[in-house]
Amino acid sequence: MSVFSIHSATFPSSHAALSLAAQAGEVIHDHAEIARRLAALGVRFERWQAAAPLPVNADAQTVLAAYREPLAALKAEYGFQSVDVIRVQAGHPDQETLRQKFLAEHTHNDFEVRFFVEGRGLFYLHVGETVFALLCEQGDLVSVPANTSHWFDMGETPDFTCIRLFTREDGWAAEFSGDPLPASFPSLEGYAAAVSALRR
Ligand SMILES: [Fe+2]
Repeated sequence: MSVFSIHSATFPSSHAALSLAAQAGEVIHDHAEIARRLAALGVRFERWQAAAPLPVNADAQTVLAAYREPLAALKAEYGFQSVDVIRVQAGHPDQETLRQKFLAEHTHNDFEVRFFVEGRGLFYLHVGETVFALLCEQGDLVSVPANTSHWFDMGETPDFTCIRLFTREDGWAAEFSGDPLPASFPSLEGYAAAVSALRR
């Protein structure tokens, strides 16, 4: 289930961050409400359905065909030049390098658009003195605006397949801020466990 939560960037304890957010009513599970909150940050958040059931580990062509219609609409709206499919599962040869790279706070000079075909991933957006956590699951489309500080955790045992869209053929580069903030926030596994504990 997708989850969105709001945290102070200056709060020092990762373990208490979620319960504090929950006390303030700022752990949100309702998709429409998450979308509304994110829209205020310039983030697009939607649910997409595959046109036909997708086999597990479908190849890129099959994945793109299953989402042809919403992809075509998004391409027409934003002029995306390229689309690819990235799959990272436990045992991927570059999993730790890939994980560490995007765990560091960074920005892009173009927006970052991801659709979760399978699996899940945790985005953190850092805006002013606030950190917004967004746990995405299968079926979620998210766009992080250009120049918005963020980081992404695929987890210690990554398992996701995403469609990525780029407005340039050469994709985008990440600008790293060097801010140590990500270390103060839960990993994907820690966040998911804390959210489940809150719901019990
Ligand atoms: Fe990014």
